[in-house]
Amino acid sequence: MNKPNPSIEQELRAQIDPARVPVHIAVTMDGNGRWAEQHGETRIAGHLNGVQPIREVLTAATEAGVKFLTLYAFSTENWNRPKAEVDALMELLVKTLASEVDELDRNGVRLHTIGDTDSLPTGCRTELKKAMDRTKANDRITLTLALSYSARWDILRMVRSIATDIRDGRLDTHAVNEALIAERLSTRGLPDPDLLIRTSGEHRISNFLLWEIAYAELWFTPVLWPDFRKQHLFQAIVDYQQRERRFGLTRDQLPAS
Ligand code: FPP
Repeated sequence: MNKPNPSIEQELRAQIDPARVPVHIAVTMDGNGRWAEQHGETRIAGHLNGVQPIREVLTAATEAGVKFLTLYAFSTENWNRPKAEVDALMELLVKTLASEVDELDRNGVRLHTIGDTDSLPTGCRTELKKAMDRTKANDRITLTLALSYSARWDILRMVRSIATDIRDGRLDTHAVNEALIAERLSTRGLPDPDLLIRTSGEHRISNFLLWEIAYAELWFTPVLWPDFRKQHLFQAIVDYQQRERRFGLTRDQLPAS
C-alpha cells in the first residue's frame, strides 16, 4: 500500500504557486480492479477502497484553491460490467452520498453531476438530488461527478439539439459557434479543465470530456486509484505549473509570467 507521507505532502504543497493553480482539474479514477487483484480481494472491495482517495483528492484540491474538480465515476460503457459490480457501485454511490453530504456542505463543496443521470436507479437519483439541493449555495469548490457519462453521448445530444433547432427554424446555422456548442453540452457552466489526471498507468482518454480537454495538460501516474493520496494531487499541480501552456501561440507571444 502506498502510505501517505506527511512530510512529502507538506513539501509538495509548499512548492505550489497559489497564483497559478489550475482552476479545473478532471480525474479518471482507474485501477480499482487491479488494486483488488493485487490484494487478493474482490473487485467490489477495490471500489470500496476507492472512496478514501475521493476524500483526499477533494480535500487537497480545496486546500490548493482549485475551484472545480470533476471525477469520472461511472462511464456509459460501465453499464456493461457484471450486474453485481454495477449494483455494488450504485449502492456505494448512495451510501457515500448519504454519509458524506454533511461534510461536503460544511466544507463549502457544491455537488454537481454530468451525464445521463436519468438512467441511474431511483435511489441514486433521489440521493443525488438531495445532496445537490443541500449544497447548491456553496462556492468554495464544485465537485462534479460524471455518472453514466461519455463524451460521445454528450456530443451526440448536443448535435441533435442543435440540428432540431435549425430544422424547426429556431436557430440559424451561422449562429453555431464554439460558445453555443459549449452551452449545449452537459458541462455547460464549467470552465474547460486545465489539468486531466489519469491513474493506474493507462495513457488513454476513454471518452472523457473530449471537447473540453482541447488545451488541458495531461498527467498520468502508475498509482492505482485506491492508493491515490493528497501528495499525488499536489505532485500533479507542481508538475502542471512547470509546463508552458501556449494555446497555439509561440513562446514569444506569451505574456511574461
Ligand atoms: C475504475 O477502476 C473505477 C470505476 C469504474 C469506478 C470508480 C468508483 C469509485 C472510485 C468508487 C465510488 C464512487 C463514488 C462517486 C462514491 P476499474 O474498475 O476500471 O479498475 P481496473 O481497470 O483495474 O479493472
